Amino acid sequence: MKISFSQPALPSSGSLVVTACKGGKLSETAKAVDKAMKGALSRAMKAARFDGAQGKCLDVFAPAGLKVDRVHLIGLGDAKAFDDLAAQDIGGGLYRSLRGDVAAAIAIDTVPRCSLLAVDIAANVAFGLRLASYRFDKYRTKEKTEDKPRLKAVTVLCDSYVVARNAFNPLNCIADGVFMTRDLVSEPPNIIYPKTLAAECRKLSQLGVKVQVLGLKQMTKLGMGALLGVAQGSVQEPQMVIMEWKGASSGRKGEGPIAFVGKGVTFDTGGISIKPAAGMWDMKWDMGGAGTVIGLMRSLAGRKAKVHAIGVVGLVENMCDGNAQRPGDIVTSMSGQTIEVLNTDAEGRLVLADALWYTKERFKPQFMIDLATLTGAIVVALGHEHAGLFANNDELAGRLTGAGKAVNELLWRLPLAEVYNKKINSPAADIKNISTGRDAGSITAAQFIQRFVGDVPWAHLDIAGTAWSSEDRPTVPKGGTAYGVRLLDRLVADYYERK
Ligand code: BES
Ligand code: MN
Ligand code: ZN
Repeated sequence: MKISFSQPALPSSGSLVVTACKGGKLSETAKAVDKAMKGALSRAMKAARFDGAQGKCLDVFAPAGLKVDRVHLIGLGDAKAFDDLAAQDIGGGLYRSLRGDVAAAIAIDTVPRCSLLAVDIAANVAFGLRLASYRFDKYRTKEKTEDKPRLKAVTVLCDSYVVARNAFNPLNCIADGVFMTRDLVSEPPNIIYPKTLAAECRKLSQLGVKVQVLGLKQMTKLGMGALLGVAQGSVQEPQMVIMEWKGASSGRKGEGPIAFVGKGVTFDTGGISIKPAAGMWDMKWDMGGAGTVIGLMRSLAGRKAKVHAIGVVGLVENMCDGNAQRPGDIVTSMSGQTIEVLNTDAEGRLVLADALWYTKERFKPQFMIDLATLTGAIVVALGHEHAGLFANNDELAGRLTGAGKAVNELLWRLPLAEVYNKKINSPAADIKNISTGRDAGSITAAQFIQRFVGDVPWAHLDIAGTAWSSEDRPTVPKGGTAYGVRLLDRLVADYYERK
């Protein structure tokens, strides 16, 4: 779908979208449209009891006095409460109303008493529209044409449309990142496995990202026994991909790059500690953390963010096999710490242990943030509305929480403490990969990871409940959500980009 911006002018075909605020207060364009229709819009509003509440809409088809096929009136609600997120939601709702149309134009006027300028409303409506237009339908060969979206072009009409377009461009790059993540997460596990996922990462070099891929040989040499233990039951060779975006030299003297690390288990059977059959297909998106890191790198590079950022993803397939690791195996991680693997289904932390240690040693980053579909326990605790946040640094935790609120990808912080940490001490090795009981499962998983980050400021986002959605939301269709791409892009933009 192509989104363009242009000078206000009433279109001569397709649908025209105009706006109203609370109390049915029409925008300037809506008033002009009503006049051209000889008051039919006002009459329709009364008849339909349309009051301009946010997200409410009203259609007048084949309006006399206008050339367009439909006038679609959309409520923005209370002008004072209307912000960028509300504008994005309006855009998302509009996509659903318009997707069957041939063409559409959206007229965005100045909204009195609103804190957003018309150009910012226009950019955010367009962003929401684009985010909502995502579909993963490449494997559907039999869908009827009339059931498929038809909307190919949308024009946003706005004074200062060049300014609006410039405000939209970086948002559009974020959407590119979000779409890439959603694609990767949605692809089936016979298509996306470590090698093919690494190949997708390589494509980012077109945007100026430096991409390096480590295979079995190199990881063996580096001593990544934790990650390799997970991979050994699979015929698919594990990969570690290092992506570097250097949009600026590193921060003030001595400050390293910022680093994002993702769990990329392309399929998680549980290994020998095998999962039940029902729902096991969900484990195709157990590479969601990696998917988010990849989409984030795409978004940063796409909009040429002035930052030095590293993305590292550990890619493995967790299978059961004659050569798979056994419960009770003891492996040696790259850090030198030995790990007793008591449950082969607690594999994500094993992958992250080596990926984080490697990132810390090689890049000496100012911080590391890892993302992982790590525990079912986080879904029990927080459902699908917040991801779990763990951090050894209050400033980083605060910034992440704030960025999450700003983009409506929410985080909730959970504790780390010695009482939890000691639950993963092993009598046979330095550490074991599960705690004795099932209690505080997300916390003990985070404690495990913490043992591999040294004193680097670090945060861990457990996205097991938020990476996939079974419900449509305004700007997030059901399926892969790409949770974290917008959040981390915002974190970078607000705190780590050179101005
Ligand atoms: N990938 C799963 C966690 C998961 C569960 C993600 C549901 C998304 C939805 C992870 O590898 C796992 O299996 N965790 C175990 C840990 C347990 C064995 C300590 C879990 O949560 O049951
Ligand atoms: Mn698992
Ligand atoms: Zn897993």
